[in-house]
Formats: sequence, structure tokens, C-alpha cells
Amino acid sequence: VSRLWGGRFEAGLAPEALAFTRSASFDRRLVREDCRVLAAHAAALAGGGILSRAEAGAVATALTQIAEDVASGAFPVLPEDEDVHSTVERALLERMPEVAPKVRAGLSRNDRVATALRLWMLDALTRVRRHLRDLIGALVERAASEVWTVMPGYTHLQRAQPVTLGFHLLGHAHALRRDVQRLDDAAGRCRGLPLGAGALAGSTLPLDPAAGEALGLGGRMQALDAVSARDFAAEFLAAAAILGAHCSRLAEEIVLWTTTEFGFAELHDAYATGSSLMPQKKNPDVAELARAKAGRLIGNLAGLLATMKGLPLAYNRDLQEDKEPVFDSADALDAALPALAGAVRTIRFERARMRSAATDPLLLATDLAEHLVTKGVPFAEAHEAVGNAVRSSIETGRDWRAMTIEEWQVFSPRFDAGVARVLDVDSSVRQRLGGIEADLEEMAAWVASQAGERP
Ligand code: ARG
Repeated sequence: VSRLWGGRFEAGLAPEALAFTRSASFDRRLVREDCRVLAAHAAALAGGGILSRAEAGAVATALTQIAEDVASGAFPVLPEDEDVHSTVERALLERMPEVAPKVRAGLSRNDRVATALRLWMLDALTRVRRHLRDLIGALVERAASEVWTVMPGYTHLQRAQPVTLGFHLLGHAHALRRDVQRLDDAAGRCRGLPLGAGALAGSTLPLDPAAGEALGLGGRMQALDAVSARDFAAEFLAAAAILGAHCSRLAEEIVLWTTTEFGFAELHDAYATGSSLMPQKKNPDVAELARAKAGRLIGNLAGLLATMKGLPLAYNRDLQEDKEPVFDSADALDAALPALAGAVRTIRFERARMRSAATDPLLLATDLAEHLVTKGVPFAEAHEAVGNAVRSSIETGRDWRAMTIEEWQVFSPRFDAGVARVLDVDSSVRQRLGGIEADLEEMAAWVASQAGERP
């Protein structure tokens, strides 16, 4: 029997009830963690004298093999296994029929699954963090070669002021770096040890707390909280959703920039796809799917919070629904981040095209107003004067760069020969973006410092 309960039941679970409540189809991904948790629990029993040290050692050895066998399929998960814990128990009973029945003392699937999920998540966090660091690294590398590559900066998707491509790429890198911090925060609160909580209220047995602590999750949690809490999962999903939103914004820009209309960039063939119908097409599917993943990531967070919000303490079966969103968000990021990093590393930027989109002198209107401010003109007045000059240029088609000082002085007597320098796009970006080199250096140092992995 792979059922972990049954004494009080006369009849077995109806097939449709089993099919509905069963979690083995997805929680089998926790098999390695579940085996570690069970081995730690056996050690806790040994510490309290319930099992011998030798028995606990043999259980640990058997569980290492069981983890491999279930993961590889050599030991199959059966349709009647309710969850991964049932499969592991069945294997242990088969292989150690004497000891296995003793190991479950003081352990509930409630503390067991919460512990296993925390262990799984810490690994996932490390993996996602590594992918994310690599994406940031890609952005920083590309920024380093484009520090002074002039391009238009946008607000409302309308050309606003000239910036540089390096500056723009670093903007994304900064947002993603905060996502690393968020993942680290989530990892911090993922550490906590449910094992020892039993179903909700601890155990009368002398379970050795040190054995559970060897799992590396820190000290035992308050029992009731330990089996009820899923904020650690929600926090990961929240960090993942925000990260997803940031990736989506980067992806959207790749989509925009690679249009014929923008023409700012061309994806490498290795990161673009064709059309089965239109031979000329080169589509940014990697970027589009990275953009789309944000939807799932946000959905996973919203779903788990909705599941959690009405639950009384402590464990409720609803909590079984915590795993699929966690797995799905981790999977989405594991797939999207490397693909996006590759696209960023290999995309070709059309520098000339970016520059020509940024050389409309009207984009320097703000610089010009600020120039008047340095001449003692109050900003509101300067804004008005330059605004008049903008309107006149639009109406007459007169290029600002061709205007004489006399023409400028119609708008403000304080305009002088300095206007020509203000209207130079390169000197404009150098004046405004002077901090970029230090920023780039700091970012590159940060990326390098992350080579040794946390959390
Ligand atoms: N599959 C369950 C889950 O993931 C395991 C815990 C079941 N606990 C219980 N009391 N039925 O939450």
C-alpha cells in the first residue's frame, strides 16, 4: 500500500477523488529534497534515542539511492501514490522493511513538505540568481562599448532628450540588479526550519533539533507557523514577477528597436526566427516570449496569494497548490534569462541610425533653456523663450543649427554665440551624462564580484 494513512478508513479513496487530490505528478520534483528531509528526521530520531545511530545511517544511505532511483524512473511513481512522500515511503519500506515503519514517528507530511519546498526553492533561487547575474553582465558588457553612442531618450515613447546607448542599457542593468537583491531577500526568509513541527503542534518525542538544522535552513520555526506559512513562496513569486516585468520591458525595447520603423538594432540569426509563410521575415520571438513570461509570473503570484488569503491556521490541503506556481516561475526564469542574455550579447546596434534619430536639434531644447538659466534667466522665462523658438522652427522649417545670433535674440536677448556649442549633441550628452563612466565601472565591478555564488 502506498497510502500513508488508512487505519481508521474502511474504504479506499474513490478513483476520481485520488485523481483530484493527488500531487505526485508535480511534487515528484521534490524527491531529492524530500529524501534529505526524511534522512534528517531519521537523524533527529536517533538523536532522541528512538532509532539507533546505525539505523539512521542506513536510512540516510537508502534514501540517497531512493532519490536517484525515483528521479531516474528506476523506481517508478505509481498512479496510486498520492504524493512524492508516498513514493519515498514505499521505496523505503521495500528496501528496509524493519526500520522504515519507525521513521515516520514525529513527522507529518505538513512539516515535511514545507521543509522540502524551502530546500528546493533555495536551489532555484541560486540558479535564477546566476542567470540574472549573467544577463546583467551582458548588458554591462554591451554598455561598455556604447558609452558615448548617441541615441534619443524617450518619454511617452516620444523623443525627449539625447542620451547614449550605454546609458540606456545601464538603466536596465540597475533595475535588474535590484531584482538580485530581492531574490537574496527572498532567500533569507526562505531559510527557516519547519521540520520538528509535526502536523502543527510539535511532538512528545525527543527529536534532536540539531539534526534538522544540518539541512542548512537555520533554526526550527514556531510549529504552527512552520506548517502554515507560505509567504516564503509568495516572496519568491513576487521577486520573480517584478523581475519578469523588468525583463519584459527590456524585451519590448528589443521588439521595438528591431522594427524597420526604428531600425536601431538587428537580432543575431541565432536569436531570431523566420516565418513559414513570409520569406523575408525575421521575428524577435525570444524577446516576445520573454515579454509574455511576465504574464505567467504575475499570474503565479496572484494565484498563490489568492489561495493563501482565506486559510485558517495551520495546514490546509489548499497549500498543496503552492508548488506548481513556484516550479512554473522558476522554470520560466530558467528558460527566459539565458535566452535574453544571449540575445543581448549578440544583437547588432545600428549606431548611425540611432545617432540620426537623436540629432534633431529640437531634442536639445531643454539644454538650451538651461543655457539661458546659466545666463541669469529664470527657468520659466527660458522655457517660454525656447518654446517660442521651437514653435517658430516647426512653422518655418528653419533648422536651429542654421540660425544666426540675431535670429536667436528675437526669442531672448540673452542668447549668444554659446548657442552653437549647446546645440552640439555630443557635448550635450557629455555634459549631462558625465557620471556614466563611474557608473559603468561600479556595475562591472559588481558583476565581477558576483562570480562566487550566493545566496
Ligand atoms: N501533497 C501535500 C502538499 O503538498 C502534502 C501534505 C499533505 N498533508 C496532508 N495532511 N494531507 O501539501
